[in-house]
Amino acid sequence: MNHWRTYHAQWEKLGPPLRPSAEVVAGIRSLVGSADGRVFLLGVTPELAGMFPELLAMDKNPAMIANLWPGDTGSKKAIAGDWLEIRQPAGSFAAIVGDGSLNNIAHTADIARLLGLVLGLLRPGGRFACRLFERPARPFTVQHLMKVAWSPAPINFHAFKWQLAMLIGAEEGASVPVARILERFEQLFPDRDGLSERTGWPRQAIDTIDIYRGSPVVYSFPNRAEFLGCIPAAAGGVEFHPCGGYDLAACCPILTFVKRPD
Ligand SMILES: C[S@@+](CC[C@H](N)C(=O)[O-])C[C@H]1O[C@@H](n2cnc3c(N)ncnc32)[C@H](O)[C@@H]1O
Repeated sequence: MNHWRTYHAQWEKLGPPLRPSAEVVAGIRSLVGSADGRVFLLGVTPELAGMFPELLAMDKNPAMIANLWPGDTGSKKAIAGDWLEIRQPAGSFAAIVGDGSLNNIAHTADIARLLGLVLGLLRPGGRFACRLFERPARPFTVQHLMKVAWSPAPINFHAFKWQLAMLIGAEEGASVPVARILERFEQLFPDRDGLSERTGWPRQAIDTIDIYRGSPVVYSFPNRAEFLGCIPAAAGGVEFHPCGGYDLAACCPILTFVKRPD
């Protein structure tokens, strides 16, 4: 089963890097500036939903909307649908924002397709800002993961899980099935109690990885060059902003670009 159907139940247990920290929310808010007008949110990330007075949020998973969306108001609305099939008038958004949204697309060709749609939906001068999970230029290695997991851990379990996903991305390509993350984790760390004792990660946090069992979902963990290859040539002001000091923040820049005036 697609793990997003039950993911909302885990949401409260998650923190950065999986959820955006206050610095990230403020960073995205300041990058899009006054964003006077309608903002499109890729997903229903509640921390971002609260930032903009006029908002359309879209998520293909109705359970995420039912459980995480704070509720429609006169000027904010969430709809179920696929970002790649979005039907909204061209140039109708002052900004388009997201948190980890591009990593939820399985293939870089579809990230490129989505960013092309994003550029079309932005009005001239409108800005895109989305936090990325970006595979580092120097890949994480098994030795690195073993070192992290062999003593009191310097990072939380979710940051560690993303390092493992990025290692798989470096070895097998940017598209990473979530079931593969679980499979590799179980091969490398069969003794969860021992892992918990050594690192200090609560068993409950470690066991959140089980949500990937049997899930057909594929994430992508592109590196900088691969992300750059997805950005439409017509986009202006392309920047990758480092943001925050939370675990794995160095791999989580905010990508931004602007729709050039016609
Ligand atoms: C916004 S992203 C990332 C949220 C959070 N930062 C994290 O990493 O857990 C997660 C959401 O994207 C949604 N999603 C993934 N691909 C989608 C697509 N093609 N169209 C619409 N929603 C999609 C999923 O259903 C999920 O609720």
